[in-house]
Amino acid sequence: MATPLSDTSLSPLRTVAVVGLGTMGTGIAEVLAGAGRDVIGIDISEAQTAKCVTALEASTARAVERGRLTGPQRAELLARVTTSTDLGAAAGADLVIEVAPESYEIKQQIFRELDGIVRPETVLATGTNALSVTRLAADSARPERVLGMHFFNPAPAMRLVEIVSCVLTAPAAVTAVTNLALDLGKEPVAVGDRPGFVADGLLFGYLNQAAAMYEANYASREDIDAAMRLGCGLPMGPLALLDLIGVDTARTVLEAMYAESRDRLHAPAPVLKQLSEAGLTGRKAGRGFYTYEAPGSGTVVRDDLTPLEGGSPTAGRTVRSVGVAGSGTMASGIAEVFAKAGYEVVLAARSEEKARSARARIGKNLARSVDKGRMTAEAAAQTLERVRPTGTYDDFADVDLAVEAVAEDLEVKRQLFAALDKVCKPGAVLATTTSSLPVVACARATSRPFFFDRHALLQPGAGHEAGRGRAHGADRRRRARHRA
Ligand SMILES: NC(=O)c1ccc[n+]([C@@H]2O[C@H](COP(=O)([O-])OP(=O)(O)OC[C@H]3O[C@@H](n4cnc5c(N)ncnc54)[C@H](O)[C@@H]3O)[C@@H](O)[C@H]2O)c1
Repeated sequence: MATPLSDTSLSPLRTVAVVGLGTMGTGIAEVLAGAGRDVIGIDISEAQTAKCVTALEASTARAVERGRLTGPQRAELLARVTTSTDLGAAAGADLVIEVAPESYEIKQQIFRELDGIVRPETVLATGTNALSVTRLAADSARPERVLGMHFFNPAPAMRLVEIVSCVLTAPAAVTAVTNLALDLGKEPVAVGDRPGFVADGLLFGYLNQAAAMYEANYASREDIDAAMRLGCGLPMGPLALLDLIGVDTARTVLEAMYAESRDRLHAPAPVLKQLSEAGLTGRKAGRGFYTYEAPGSGTVVRDDLTPLEGGSPTAGRTVRSVGVAGSGTMASGIAEVFAKAGYEVVLAARSEEKARSARARIGKNLARSVDKGRMTAEAAAQTLERVRPTGTYDDFADVDLAVEAVAEDLEVKRQLFAALDKVCKPGAVLATTTSSLPVVACARATSRPFFFDRHALLQPGAGHEAGRGRAHGADRRRRARHRA
């Protein structure tokens, strides 16, 4: 059967209606207007339409200040955006992008109403993260023109747009929105219809686990975020990202994913519901996992949960000398970090030869830093001087902290800890770098379970912030433990 979209190529999508002017709608409207599109912004809430206009005025004013727009360009951009609380305003649109809340009923209602409002060839795109595009299409009068156009937050900054098609989608509609995305300066990727598509399908299980970890008091919010930023090199920690996405939005996305997948990974952590229902929805509300300067601001301010600057949960002894057990990448990296920070380090391996070659590796690393201008030759020599290689753990007799980075094998570690327990002085802290073994099992191999710590240094040891002395939550706590 011939349909309005089955065999024609669509003209460039000049006029675009954006339905829902919240976090996503406001950003998408800015991107579209910035690329010369006429934008009809629609929201059921008059207050939201006003908020959207204010946000556009503010962000374009910032763009003028930064020299990215001229005054007249800004005026033209703003003039291209009109707003309404009536869905009927979408009548003249070539494309409608729906970014209303993540509720199937709300979206279905909007799509049904649009069927009676827009032209037959108008493309209808949903910005859903996790609801079924196929079902929305099938429930509408013209399934072939319905697809997903999944922008990322903040829409003006994030380059990815997932273009979601299903078995019902007309190729001409996909081509038209793909070309539009390119024209907006985005990187469109073509994906099929499954909850979360590619990026969120992988991301949201992780965010949910971070929320659950926080809820279980496993670590503080600052330390969970620091672990993922500094340990995994991500630009933002998961709890800060949940605040950016919107805790309520994340919760509904997870609910939708869970309803589809029935995978416990997506069953929303209760804390997401509690925060949402308390109105603590993240940046947009000024409070979520963190507290912000004002609603809509990204500047975190102190609150009751913020750790004290330089605060230490316990007073205690100072660590002056450190023993590092092992001769692999982690051991030499950790020894390098401590030596750079000014600690005397005993580097012990199964033979003196192995310890010497681990020290030589540190020397090479330091020489590279000198070549790159990151440290002086003198500082490198002094650092290496602080590392004393040895083939016997007996040389740990005077260390204040012993860190093991030997094989990831519980029996090997237990034997090592039993040996360290005999050699190390009373009160010395014994630390394991294990990433998967039970720390308590290592502790039980010793007679000093209270002087035991899992020393969370991550590979490559020397490259991580832990060694740079930043007064970060995780680092501060770690230093405090060193004093314990
Ligand atoms: N926030 C994110 O990071 C993000 C990223 C990608 C996609 N999304 C998806 O985009 C959509 C919107 O998310 P958001 O974070 O912008 O939500 P939001 O809560 O910030 O905004 C939703 C807006 O829709 C309006 N609205 C409610 N019912 C409406 C209706 N019937 N008609 C018109 N407007 C209506 C609300 O007044 C509100 O302004 C959701 O489907 C979400 O899953 C969100």
